[in-house]
Amino acid sequence: MAINYSALRNRLSEGQRARLKSLAAMAVDGIPIPWSLEMIGWRFATDKATHGYLEHYARHFEPFRRRPVNVLEIGIGTYGPQGGGASLRTWQRYFTQAQIHGLDIVDKRKHADKRITVHQGDQGDKQFLTDLAGRIGPLQIIIDDGSHYNHHVMASFEALFPLLEVGGLYVIEDMQTSYLRSMGGSSTDLSHPGTSMNLLKSLCDEVNSMFIANRQPTPWSRWIESVHVYRNVAFILKGDSHNYHVHDYAKTMMAEELAATAPTLTGR
Ligand SMILES: C[S@@+](CC[C@H](N)C(=O)[O-])C[C@H]1O[C@@H](n2cnc3c(N)ncnc32)[C@H](O)[C@@H]1O
Repeated sequence: MAINYSALRNRLSEGQRARLKSLAAMAVDGIPIPWSLEMIGWRFATDKATHGYLEHYARHFEPFRRRPVNVLEIGIGTYGPQGGGASLRTWQRYFTQAQIHGLDIVDKRKHADKRITVHQGDQGDKQFLTDLAGRIGPLQIIIDDGSHYNHHVMASFEALFPLLEVGGLYVIEDMQTSYLRSMGGSSTDLSHPGTSMNLLKSLCDEVNSMFIANRQPTPWSRWIESVHVYRNVAFILKGDSHNYHVHDYAKTMMAEELAATAPTLTGR
């Protein structure tokens, strides 16, 4: 029987949740089977479970589960030297072959473990991120669960998405900060250029950018395969639109479109 963890989460009291966590710990630690991501998340008490993100992670991460991928997560938690590491241990258990890299602005070296490497640095520092990616090697999964300030989310995406492998996934958590002024977001100007949701909206257009007349290319133009926006969390799949099988068809179509709209575009 499949368990609906999201529905469970909303119905349980604090005490019941604590009991569920200890049951999950007994099961996951005691029985060596490929447990669902939701069970593993409850076992390690990652807030990805309580936020309802794990069902989305499970859907998108399943193809990577048994592959020797590099996973980089920005934000090891919590906001100080104590605690944290819940998601690193969740990924360590879920992925059977992956190398897990955690980055935090605070020294979190104590979370280093088998297949877990811990790095310290600022996600807003693009040069640092570029150097870090160079040290890690090919990246197949990047998760931004860091400060959630919009300028940090944008800087990390701009530095790291170009370095993600084609076929890889870029995940941004806690997207609600896009609407919070205190985090550099806006709920009045939904096209505010400095917000993470505005970035995602423009990425949606990039999926079909070959059909947009006179579009100025951006660093992402060629590389957005799909954009999946859920409540507070988004998954961006990297592709290469030059592999698009009807690319020539798109070029012909756009040439016709430009010819047809030329008088309008020049104001005649
Ligand atoms: C929400 S917690 C991460 C939780 C963890 N990923 C999990 O699911 O268990 C956010 C973390 O981001 C870190 N952080 C805050 N600002 C940062 C920055 N500029 N660069 C890197 N990490 C940062 C904080 O120290 C904190 O540990």
